[in-house]
Amino acid sequence: MSQRTLVLLKPDAVRRGLVGDILSRFEAKGLTIVALEQRHIDAAQADAHYAEHVERDFYPPLRDFVTSGPLVALVLEGDEAVEIVRGLNGATDGRKAAPGTIRGDLSLSNRENLVHGSDSEESAAREIGLWFPEVAQR
Ligand code: RTP
Ligand code: MG
Repeated sequence: MSQRTLVLLKPDAVRRGLVGDILSRFEAKGLTIVALEQRHIDAAQADAHYAEHVERDFYPPLRDFVTSGPLVALVLEGDEAVEIVRGLNGATDGRKAAPGTIRGDLSLSNRENLVHGSDSEESAAREIGLWFPEVAQR
């Protein structure tokens, strides 16, 4: 079943020059880029994206991080895209993520973990509407 999912290459990915490496992993897997844009988001956009986390203790430093520089937002499409992207991303904590995953290979942090992927089809629909309203119509 073809699905769409919202992916962020967080500011650490841009700063470290890992955008090409990470994008090529998604492309090599067979996922299609439907939309892609580099943006520098403000606190309001961070709060909207991470609505489920805004009350958590870890959120203030997470907000500082995701607004700290440009990130790359994209929509990927393909068979079971939500679950496939989560698998390619690896576990949240880069120190625990399996080798072979993006975080497992490239991150040593629980916060600066390079990527975001929607965690369900419902989250994907909400997040695509937030980041790429023009794509959500199609
Ligand atoms: P994401 O939403 O970014 O794809 O990551 P995820 O589903 O694997 O993890 P989630 O629980 O949604 O957490 C969102 C992001 O918050 C940061 N985080 N910091 N205890 C902490 O310090 C902590 N826990 C999570 C990470 O950047 C995580 O990706
Ligand atoms: Mg999440």
